[in-house]
Amino acid sequence: MKSADLLIRGGQVVSPEGIVPASVAIADGLIVAVGHDDLMPPARETLRADGQYLLPGAIDSHVHFRDPGYPHKETWATGSAAAACGGVTTVFDMPNTNPPTGTREALAMKLKAAERSFVDFGIHALLGDDTVHLLEDLLEGGATSFKAFVGNTFGNLPAPSDGALLEGFEILAPLGVRTVVHAENSSIMARRQKQLQDAGRIDAQAHLAARPAVAEIEAIGRVLTLAEWTGARVHIAHHSAADSLFLLRAAKARGVDVTVETCPQYLLLNTADMLRLGGILRVNPPVREARHNQPLWDALMDGTIDMIATDHAPHTPEEKTRESIWACDCGFPGVETQMPIMLTEVNRQRATLMDYVRWSAVAPAKAWGLYGTKGVLQVGAHADIAVVDMERRGTLHQGRLQSLSKISPWHGRAVQGYPVHTLLRGRFTLRDGRLVDDSIGWGRSVKTVQRMPTPQPRNTEHSSRAIVAHPAGVRPNALPDDAVAAELAR
Ligand code: NCD
Ligand code: ZN
Repeated sequence: MKSADLLIRGGQVVSPEGIVPASVAIADGLIVAVGHDDLMPPARETLRADGQYLLPGAIDSHVHFRDPGYPHKETWATGSAAAACGGVTTVFDMPNTNPPTGTREALAMKLKAAERSFVDFGIHALLGDDTVHLLEDLLEGGATSFKAFVGNTFGNLPAPSDGALLEGFEILAPLGVRTVVHAENSSIMARRQKQLQDAGRIDAQAHLAARPAVAEIEAIGRVLTLAEWTGARVHIAHHSAADSLFLLRAAKARGVDVTVETCPQYLLLNTADMLRLGGILRVNPPVREARHNQPLWDALMDGTIDMIATDHAPHTPEEKTRESIWACDCGFPGVETQMPIMLTEVNRQRATLMDYVRWSAVAPAKAWGLYGTKGVLQVGAHADIAVVDMERRGTLHQGRLQSLSKISPWHGRAVQGYPVHTLLRGRFTLRDGRLVDDSIGWGRSVKTVQRMPTPQPRNTEHSSRAIVAHPAGVRPNALPDDAVAAELAR
């Protein structure tokens, strides 16, 4: 038997189907054996994982690494170091950088910055009115997927018009490329915010009042309509409200290819925390009333919500604690604290470790076409592994985050369950709770990894492309060839 580079012995391997005691052998970055210790090949190095659990590394569909553009908030090196320390092995980075990731040049700048990544990555490029003609070009340049800021948020990128969104979906549907949507209604929010500002409101509740749940419900309904019409794959970012779950359940039942993420803040925090934390917890969408928390857990359990992402949105302490709520930047870091926070809930028996792996790794791997290569600990898959200690207790401390954003609404929270080692394609990025500095730059784009088969687009006969090519709105192949010939001969 060919010898392995590393053998992880004595741990328990977790998948959504079960938890089994097994050793894992790794060679050339891939898992080469999983099973009884007696059957393992000889290895150069052994890691003992007695009493610990081996999880597929977390895949975070939503991070803002701010690079290029805001190096005082985060860089690829610091953001991805935070990810590695949080048991994360793959991230998908958002396009509201500066310049926004909406041109080949901006995309090239981001890919250059990502050369310093500790984790593998995908790049969500920008879908907006100005970029809709560039989508294929951006895919060719290395984008994995797209993001549409239907609700305004940090970066102030204009929301795409409904027309541009429809056209973007028409282009992306036959390619099978998924679009992340920040689903809030900009027009409702702009009007509300102006009224509140005119009334002199600068308190934290004013932020909640400016972005009511109906803004999310409306935007989700609109996006699902366009996705269903075109057959495009969509992904709802940071889902926050209980009231829109019925729309998602119905769309999924009809076969709309929609995936949904929520974040720890929507599961575990609410408006009471907003009163306590003010600008530190200012985020888009806002945290909701406590009545929303449990329905989101229920939706994760029944698969309406597919996965956990973090919306890691770093800003400096100064930017988060200004007097007026409107001056506090929206978002906060999360990629490093998600796993201990969620493992604590597993220890509280709110979910099983098997559920957690489904939400943190399996579902995102499937949504982004990576499953089999990532998201599962099986022979032939990447050795992307989070080794976790479910007994280890601690208190989250914002000053000790790898992120440059040393301010967090989770500061002071008691947790139980930590990643102690993280491996990316066989190489340690976190070892014994410490970042492995040498692994900077080991992260790669997931673009080279196999993608899912492309789906059949729907309703293409009236797509804008057909209309542009044929002003009458009729495609030449709408009729059999000889019928067209007969038509032309008349
Ligand atoms: C995010 C950011 O800071 O980039 N902020 C936020 O409040 N969530 C943007 C976003 O994801 O909406
Ligand atoms: Zn967003």
